[in-house]
Amino acid sequence: MATDIADATDARTAADNSRATEAILLVGGKGTRLRPLTVNTPKPMIPAAGVPFLTHQLARARAAGVEHVVLATSYLAEVFEPYFGDGSALGLSLEYVTESDPLGTGGALRNVVHRLHAGPGDPVLIFNGDILTGLDIPALVATHRRTGADVSLHLTKVPDPRAFGLVPTDPDGRVTAFLEKPQTPEEIVTDQINAGAYVFNRSVIDAIPAGRPVSVERETFPGLLAAGAHLQGMVDSTYWLDLGTPHAFVRGSADLVLGRAPSPAVPGRHGERLVLTGAQVADDAKLSGGTCVAAGAVIGSGARVDGSTVLAGARVEAGAVVKNSLIGVGAEVGARTVLDGVVLGDGAVLGPDNELAPGARVWCGARIGAGAIRFSSDQ
Ligand code: GTP
Repeated sequence: MATDIADATDARTAADNSRATEAILLVGGKGTRLRPLTVNTPKPMIPAAGVPFLTHQLARARAAGVEHVVLATSYLAEVFEPYFGDGSALGLSLEYVTESDPLGTGGALRNVVHRLHAGPGDPVLIFNGDILTGLDIPALVATHRRTGADVSLHLTKVPDPRAFGLVPTDPDGRVTAFLEKPQTPEEIVTDQINAGAYVFNRSVIDAIPAGRPVSVERETFPGLLAAGAHLQGMVDSTYWLDLGTPHAFVRGSADLVLGRAPSPAVPGRHGERLVLTGAQVADDAKLSGGTCVAAGAVIGSGARVDGSTVLAGARVEAGAVVKNSLIGVGAEVGARTVLDGVVLGDGAVLGPDNELAPGARVWCGARIGAGAIRFSSDQ
């Protein structure tokens, strides 16, 4: 009996040690790499697998024991609260703080610190608002407590680290440097990069300078390291994707639909396709590769849509072929038009018999006539 009580107490202590009840979500960026999708909608509110991307992050935070979330907003700030309200639908208490001028990732944290309930030594989770990941959030909190760090960072390993700042660690996982994007092969000293999820002791957020832009990556982290603070890295190599580019966003949405990326918030069963209530899909249309079709969208006869996201009210006409593409709200893809790796901004209209190259972006509201664009890879 005494052993049972001791075991129960140990289990409870372990659970407490791996839990942080507060989080800040950074959702104020302009999302320039995702334009034209971010012209009308901030990146975290673009639907991925049928719901605003932020829903997946909030649901994962809730599942990890988070109760109170402060959203640090700036760009198109007004759209968040009407959708998420007080957060009770997700079992969370949500608050919103808006920067009239963007304060950068560090400045945004400092700007919301007065809304936290945490004491100075308590852990606060921080998430970039554009990362899709299966990170073991309780493990990051447990690592933070076990090592007594001031800040703990989720690190992920990437096959080609040239496009990222590198974060080497010592054998105990303690961060030894923050290195800019490597320019030469010799500068690639590690394949570990900052994955955009952290645990900060609240006192560290209090110490960020107030009232001016601060970058957590370029100023706060290197400054803390230089001052002798303890920054702990935790490598977690589960699913990780930065949804900052159109290609990555479409991939992330498809992975959510397929069940490759974990989220409790996908509104339906995992599979090749997710068709939301109110969408119309012709019986002989083929949807595959994690394609999501939103409410009010129409997919015509014989159309093939693979690995793509079709947003609300958009139309893909008969015989069109759409692959790895994002079709904006109310946009139209004409009959027999072929798209591969294309972004169609909200309300854009592509006439029939066009063919667009991978990487093409059509601006919101643009109109392209029948057969006006023909891309062929052998030209
Ligand atoms: P790009 O313009 O395409 O680089 O995207 P971004 O503006 O989102 O920038 P980045 O991907 O570097 O930002 C990382 C995270 O921090 C995202 O979740 C942004 O929403 C957020 N963020 C970036 N700058 C600010 C800011 O000034 N204020 C707030 N509140 N959040 C920010």
